[in-house]
Amino acid sequence: MNVLLIGSGGRENAIALALKRSPLLKRLYIAPGNPGTARIGENVDLDVADHTAVIDFCREAAIALVVMGPEQPLIGGLVDALEKHGVLAFGPTQAAAQLEGSKGFTKDLCRDSGIPTARYARFGALEPALQYLRENGAPIVVKADGLAAGKGVVVAQTLEEAEQAVQAMFAGDFGLSGAEVVIEECLEGEEASFFAICDGVRALPFATAQDHKRVGDGDTGPNTGGMGAYSPATVVTPAIEARVMSEIIEPTMRAMRETGAPFKGVLYAGLMLTKEGPKLIEYNCRFGDPEAQAVLPRLEGDLLELMLASTRGALPQARPRFSPLAALTVVLAAQNYPGTPITGSEIRNLKSAEAVEGVTITHAGTREEGGRLLAAGGRVLNITALGESVAEAQARAYAAVDLIDWPGGFCRRDIGWREVARERKSR
Ligand code: AMP
Ligand code: GLY
Repeated sequence: MNVLLIGSGGRENAIALALKRSPLLKRLYIAPGNPGTARIGENVDLDVADHTAVIDFCREAAIALVVMGPEQPLIGGLVDALEKHGVLAFGPTQAAAQLEGSKGFTKDLCRDSGIPTARYARFGALEPALQYLRENGAPIVVKADGLAAGKGVVVAQTLEEAEQAVQAMFAGDFGLSGAEVVIEECLEGEEASFFAICDGVRALPFATAQDHKRVGDGDTGPNTGGMGAYSPATVVTPAIEARVMSEIIEPTMRAMRETGAPFKGVLYAGLMLTKEGPKLIEYNCRFGDPEAQAVLPRLEGDLLELMLASTRGALPQARPRFSPLAALTVVLAAQNYPGTPITGSEIRNLKSAEAVEGVTITHAGTREEGGRLLAAGGRVLNITALGESVAEAQARAYAAVDLIDWPGGFCRRDIGWREVARERKSR
C-alpha cells in the first residue's frame, strides 16, 4: 500500500525507516520530509496546513494510510479532515489531540478520573495567579496552557521566578497559549517517556525511553525539544508499567471515550517516577522526538501493520516485539540552539560516521545544496547506535559523532548518563 507520512524531523526520519521494513509498504511519501527521508521514500512539497491540498494528494497518489508525525497538524484537525474524505489516518482527531493541545484539559481529566498527577490550579487572570503562588511558595511549576514548542514551562525554584513567569505569560510572551496559565506542584523523581498505541478503546504498551531535555551536560541550562534519548528506560520496571497502564493510560482511554473523543494513535505519557509511584507530567499525542529515534530501531514487529490496526480499532492482544538491544540517540544541534540557531554551516563526513558498527544517522534540520549538506534548523542530526548495553550504544554513538566534521554544531556528551551509572553499579 502507499503511505503518506506527515512531518520533517528526526522522528519522521525514524518512522520512515521503520515503515520501510514493512512488507505491506509499496510507496512511501513524506510531506514535507527532509534530506534523510528523501533517501527512504519520496518527499512531497505539500503545505500540511492546507487540508485540501493533502486530501487531493492522497487521491492522486492512492494513499491508503496517512501517518501523522508532529502535533501541530493533529491539533489543527488534519485527521478529522482526512477521515471526512474517507482517507485513513494514524493519529488522534482534533478533539482527542487536546490531551496535548491543552494542559488544562488534561489536568481536569486527571482530576475527574483520579489519575495521579501534580496538584494544580488554572488561572485566566494575573492577580489570582499571583496570590496562589504566594500561598503555595516555591519550588512551583508555571505553564502556559497551550502549545509553546516546549518553552511554555517554567520550573521555578524561587517565588520571584514564578511571579515573573506568570507575569510574562499574561503579558502575552507566549501569544494565545498564555491566555490561560496552569500552576502546579513541583514533582520530584526521575522522568521517563512511556508510549502506548491506542485504537480508541484499547491501549497497547509500546515502549519506554528517557529524554534529556536540558541543553547542557549534567542536565543544566534551558529546556530544549530534547538533546538525546535511550531506550528502553529500565527505570520503568514491569511493576511500574502495570501501574502506568492501570492508573494512568487506561482511565484516560475510558475518559476520552466517555467525552466522545476516543483516542487513537500514539499516546505518549511524560512520567515522573515519584516515591509514591508514577505520576503524569503531561501527555503528548504522538511519538517523542528524539525518543522515536531510539525506540523505533529496536522494533522488530511491523509498524505499518500496527498503525493500520490502530486506525481500524482492532489492535492485536500481543504487544509488538522489540530487540533486547539498547539504543541511544545523540542529537547534534546548530550553535545557539535552543535560542535562534545559526544555520547554513556545512556538515561533512556523515558517511564514515554511518559506517561505525550499529550506527544509523537520521536527519532533522538539514538541507542539501549543490551536493553539500547544510544546517537548516535547531536540531539538525540524530546519531543513533544499538548496543548490548546503553554504555555500548553510547560509546558507538559518540564514536560516530566524533567522525562528523561540523564546527557549526554541538551536542551533549553525557546522553544516557543515568542508565550508564546504573549499569556500572549492577556489574
Ligand atoms: P512539559 O513541557 O510539560 O513536558 O514540561 C517540560 C519539563 O518541565 C518536564 O519534562 C519536566 O522536567 C518539567 N516539569 C513539568 N511539570 C513538572 C512538575 N509538575 N514537577 C516537576 N517538573 C515538571
Ligand atoms: N522529546 C520530547 C517531546 O517529543 O515532546
